[in-house]
Amino acid sequence: MFESVTLKHTTLKNRLVMAPMTTWASQDDYSVSEEELAYYGLRNAGVGLVITGCAHVQSNGIGFTNEFSVDSDDFLPGLRALAKTIKANGAKAILQINHAGNKALPFLTDDVVSSSPVETPKTAFVDSLIPRELTDSEIVEVIKAFGQATRRAIEAGFDGVEIHGAHGFLIQNFLSPYFNKRNDRWGGSLENRMRFALELVKEIRQTIKQSGNVEFILGYRLSPDEPMEAGLKVADTLVLAERLAEAGVDYLHLSLVEAGTSKPDGFDKTYVSLFAEKVAGKLTLMTTGAIQSKAAIEQALAEGADLVGIGHTLVTDPDFVEKIATNSPVKLSISKAHVDELQLPPKMWTTIQAMGDWFTIEE
Ligand SMILES: Cc1cc2nc3c(=O)[nH]c(=O)nc-3n(C[C@H](O)[C@H](O)[C@H](O)COP(=O)(O)O)c2cc1C
Repeated sequence: MFESVTLKHTTLKNRLVMAPMTTWASQDDYSVSEEELAYYGLRNAGVGLVITGCAHVQSNGIGFTNEFSVDSDDFLPGLRALAKTIKANGAKAILQINHAGNKALPFLTDDVVSSSPVETPKTAFVDSLIPRELTDSEIVEVIKAFGQATRRAIEAGFDGVEIHGAHGFLIQNFLSPYFNKRNDRWGGSLENRMRFALELVKEIRQTIKQSGNVEFILGYRLSPDEPMEAGLKVADTLVLAERLAEAGVDYLHLSLVEAGTSKPDGFDKTYVSLFAEKVAGKLTLMTTGAIQSKAAIEQALAEGADLVGIGHTLVTDPDFVEKIATNSPVKLSISKAHVDELQLPPKMWTTIQAMGDWFTIEE
């Protein structure tokens, strides 16, 4: 886990990654804030790669309040500062790009869109709603917006982008047979449901090629399945994984509950081993979920992952990587008395406290 590894043409100093985590901390105009820079600056030393929290590519695709934007060139100065901060201690920097689709916050847009007008479940942040179905030409516009976001990430000095295809946002709205009820070229068969994701990859690859930056990394994050019986299932996402590899995606990032041990219903293999079997040697495989120890990382690597993402544990202990390297105890909770040392932006800290048992908080 501590050895360097090459991703596309870029060498990462180790296999450990800061998972994408929203900070709810942009300025009110959606530009990157000083608080966010301080938060990332404290967590950039141990890991080989930092993936930012999601940035929206269009203004009706905001998934979290104060989520920084990549939807216009106006945001380039803040994005440049963010890339520079992340890279200051040798980590590589990836910008996660997203459209929240049917999970866009309705109090920030009066135009919540999706593949089809299917009622959404209530979440921690919003009530259920019925989104508007995107037209064919609007879908093409969204694809172009992802391309423009990539151009900005390149101009800002990031080492790559990660397409956020997970967590029920717009891309998953298209993949999901539960949410996608279209009968045009974007819906129906698996081939049609995958078209949006694959067209995004094509557009982004084209943008990277035009930039001449051959080292620029393209990653894709997915949730392998949905809980609803009629939802997206692993048989489909395994096919998608192969197609993403063929389309030139450099790494595939599995968002899991437990990085090395989670298994799909009805399978006796882990998600990681199933995906590794499909795409080994074709792309780099990353997995994230509940990594709190060296043993958990070893297990994920043994299952076939090449890179391991760390979320919560880097929030609670910015020195996690340094600690496991020296077998020192890791801090798995946030103590209210020491919260200032963690450089958590105030809105992030408020959200963490409001979310109940999401994090362990000590008085
Ligand atoms: C504060 C917080 C914010 C998150 N924001 C994002 C995000 O912007 N994009 C994303 O893909 N996942 C996001 N996630 C999910 C994490 O990337 C990760 O998959 C999840 O927390 C499980 O890993 P962990 O158990 O190591 O935290 C977020 C998680 C946390 C804790």
